[in-house]
Amino acid sequence: MKKTVNRKLLLLLAPALLLGCSEDEFDPTAADATLTACTVVEKIFAPKCNDCHKPGGDYPDLSYDGLAALINVESEGYPGQVQVVPGDPEASFLYRKITGNLTADEGDPMPEKKALPDATIAFIAQWIQEGASMDCTPDPTNTSTEAYHPAGYAEATVHGYEMELGLETDCRQCHGDNLQGADDAPDCDSCHQEGWREDCTYCHGGAVSDSGAPPRDLAGLMDLTMLSFKAHGQHEAGDAHPAYECEQCHDKPTDVMTPGHIFDDETAGVAEVVFSAGLSAQGTYNGNGSCSNLYCHGNGRNNSGTADHDDGQLDCNACHAGPTATTAWRTMSGEHSKHMRERLACTDCHNSTVNSAGAIAQAALHVNGQVDLDFGTNDMTRTNNRCTGTCHNERHTNETW
Ligand code: HEC
Ligand code: HEC
Ligand code: HEC
Ligand code: HEC
Ligand code: HEC
Ligand code: HEC
Ligand code: HEC
Repeated sequence: MKKTVNRKLLLLLAPALLLGCSEDEFDPTAADATLTACTVVEKIFAPKCNDCHKPGGDYPDLSYDGLAALINVESEGYPGQVQVVPGDPEASFLYRKITGNLTADEGDPMPEKKALPDATIAFIAQWIQEGASMDCTPDPTNTSTEAYHPAGYAEATVHGYEMELGLETDCRQCHGDNLQGADDAPDCDSCHQEGWREDCTYCHGGAVSDSGAPPRDLAGLMDLTMLSFKAHGQHEAGDAHPAYECEQCHDKPTDVMTPGHIFDDETAGVAEVVFSAGLSAQGTYNGNGSCSNLYCHGNGRNNSGTADHDDGQLDCNACHAGPTATTAWRTMSGEHSKHMRERLACTDCHNSTVNSAGAIAQAALHVNGQVDLDFGTNDMTRTNNRCTGTCHNERHTNETW
């Protein structure tokens, strides 16, 4: 069964799909913008402040009840400063935090990264000027933050999948170019374990090796039969060939921010297959674990190899003629067929690559991009593609292949 995006979608928790946006700016001229504490709390503080200013949090609670508790009350963090002085905005610390009219030891302007619009600030000034009345009935449905993300988004299984499968808008739009927080969207590093950006098993891989290659793909799948590419393990293992690095088939990133890695806007959530830095530089990826124009799965003479991850374990005849492929020997270059018929073995001329049993002897030499010749104990030499010496009872003098 091939993997589809729909199947991945089903893996997501339901709340993650119920996304909404709360980017609407407060409009002081709107009909519902009555000059009351309720408007200040519900239309301004809830969307702009309450991510950080939560009930029971480290900084003042800016809900309706929290605000009431700041009228004529001194700041805990900044002794001597009264938070809200009815009738006097400039004497109100909360107001000075918003305008940024602060001395060096009075902390940061609020919100920390993006100032409120002037009209909104003027609205708060007028509310304080007119006595900072708390006389209104708060909307019971608007108790706290109008969060951008749905409830439960802080769970790794929710926001992790959304990011990995490219289902949510590019996180950088709100969380900053380097994901270190912007406006009221928090710094990703504020919750994550240290070093997560360079940790290749933080989001994928880790089940079989520490390289980052699936299993545990981007949807968290471990089941080999469900993966978009079932053969990562074989390529990495290096049993019959060198242990291949990711570069053979992908641009290998150095961390999460590497261009084209987790953030590639055109193909978000898709792992690009890029052969250009590998042995099969001209290879083509056809999707669904199928490739063509490969050197690696070819016969060693051209780049016409094909492969499909459903092919399973490959034997020696899958790419070129193997030790027992009598009739296929003639597809090999030069004198192969003639020599094999004279009962030579692959090991006679490729001694370091293949042993006398016809099995790969040194994996690092096989499918490494070059044909390795080694005559072993045979009294032969090859210079400028010509062979000299005596072997299989035959004298060779500068023979071409
Ligand atoms: C990104 C988180 C964040 C947001 C959003 C934010 N604040 Fe703050 N706020 C803080 C932090 C951290 C402090 C403590 C450090 C400081 O005073 O600079 C603080 C302190 C304050 C203080 C002083 C508290 C004290 O100790 O007396 C006030 C008043 C305040 N914020 C008001 C606001 C208002 C009003 C908004 C929205 C318009 C807002 N903040 C939005 C993080 C935030
Ligand atoms: C349109 C702006 C926007 C985008 C896009 C966005 N975020 Fe956020 N994110 C926010 C805001 C604002 C907050 C503060 C809490 C809230 O409003 O939900 C936040 C908070 C979070 C939190 C903490 C949630 C909590 O309950 O404490 C996580 C985790 C998160 N974002 C992850 C992501 C990831 C991952 C992406 C990209 C896949 C992303 N966000 C994209 C605006 C955004
Ligand atoms: C409110 C805290 C919080 C914030 C903010 C947050 N994360 Fe996470 N995230 C976690 C936790 C907890 C984990 C689990 C691993 C850990 O503890 O580091 C996690 C894991 C992840 C994973 C791995 C999921 C997996 O297991 O495959 C991704 C991807 C991720 N976060 C992306 C982001 C991005 C991008 C942002 C910023 C836009 C972000 N997170 C902000 C709490 C958070
Ligand atoms: C925060 C999560 C995260 C971390 C950490 C992470 N990756 Fe990825 N990786 C992804 C996502 C998401 C994709 C697919 C996204 C895409 O291309 O749209 C991906 C894709 C890849 C691909 C396929 C090619 C591509 O870019 O699409 C390779 C190779 C890869 N990652 C290697 C690594 C290596 C190596 C590391 C450690 C240096 C690493 N990853 C760390 C999330 C992560
Ligand atoms: C022999 C080629 C090859 C090598 C080597 C290789 N990959 Fe892949 N990889 C693929 C193919 C093909 C896909 C499937 C792309 C698709 O159809 O979406 C893939 C998919 C992936 C995916 C996404 C899986 C998913 O669908 O969720 C990740 C992540 C990944 N590779 C990481 C790596 C890492 C990390 C390495 C190095 C340790 C690596 N790959 C080495 C060929 C390779
Ligand atoms: C996936 C395709 C593939 C399979 C399967 C394969 N080969 Fe090869 N083989 C190649 C390619 C391509 C070359 C070209 C030279 C190179 O890059 O090492 C090669 C080269 C060779 C050589 C020449 C010596 C050398 O070091 O290049 C010998 C001998 C050889 N293979 C033997 C075998 C044997 C024995 C088996 C089975 C155990 C086998 N091959 C299976 C692709 C394959
Ligand atoms: C008599 C020596 C000899 C024997 C025996 C021999 N080879 Fe070769 N092989 C060569 C030479 C010479 C080349 C060409 C090297 C060059 O010029 O790059 C070669 C090249 C190859 C290549 C590269 C593609 C091609 O056709 O040129 C493959 C693959 C290969 N041999 C596999 C094998 C296998 C498998 C066997 C056993 C079935 C075998 N060889 C037996 C001498 C031999």
